[in-house]
Amino acid sequence: MEDTTRQAEDESGEAAGVTSRRRFLGYASGLLSGVIAAALGLPLARFFVGDAFAKKTPDWVRLGLVREVPLGRPQLFRLSHRDNDGWRQLMRRQAVYVVTDDGVDFAVFSSACTHLGCPVHWDDAEQLFLCPCHNGGFSQDGAVAKGPAPRPLDRLEHKVEADTLYVRLA
Ligand code: FES
Repeated sequence: MEDTTRQAEDESGEAAGVTSRRRFLGYASGLLSGVIAAALGLPLARFFVGDAFAKKTPDWVRLGLVREVPLGRPQLFRLSHRDNDGWRQLMRRQAVYVVTDDGVDFAVFSSACTHLGCPVHWDDAEQLFLCPCHNGGFSQDGAVAKGPAPRPLDRLEHKVEADTLYVRLA
């Protein structure tokens, strides 16, 4: 009777040992799987998603020296800058006009017409930025002078550092 009881206790102890070993191995393999998934998954997630949240354009783009801008006449600057579009990098070209009356205060305008985006050009004879697409026109301060444009030319943020003009592109 006593032998039967001891044998039953040994078997149940052995069964408990096997169960806890199995449980431990289950936890360990689960933990190891998690570590491997993270080690492989994080770089993959960064590859597919990370660049989509990368900064779209450089903060400031150099335009040129302030003395390159004549007083009282809009000066065209053509820019090319690297732009992140998702995980693709594109070279974008853009044109802006800089206007100053005194060489101290500047206004920088996008050359895209605010009607449908055609490029405007400065016309000395009319003293207007003219849009060839629908005969739109903007005065030197960017205000709508004629045509269908719903708002003035877009002003771009800019700064002057060490006699150099920089613009922040939208
Ligand atoms: S796009 Fe300039 S007036 Fe229409």
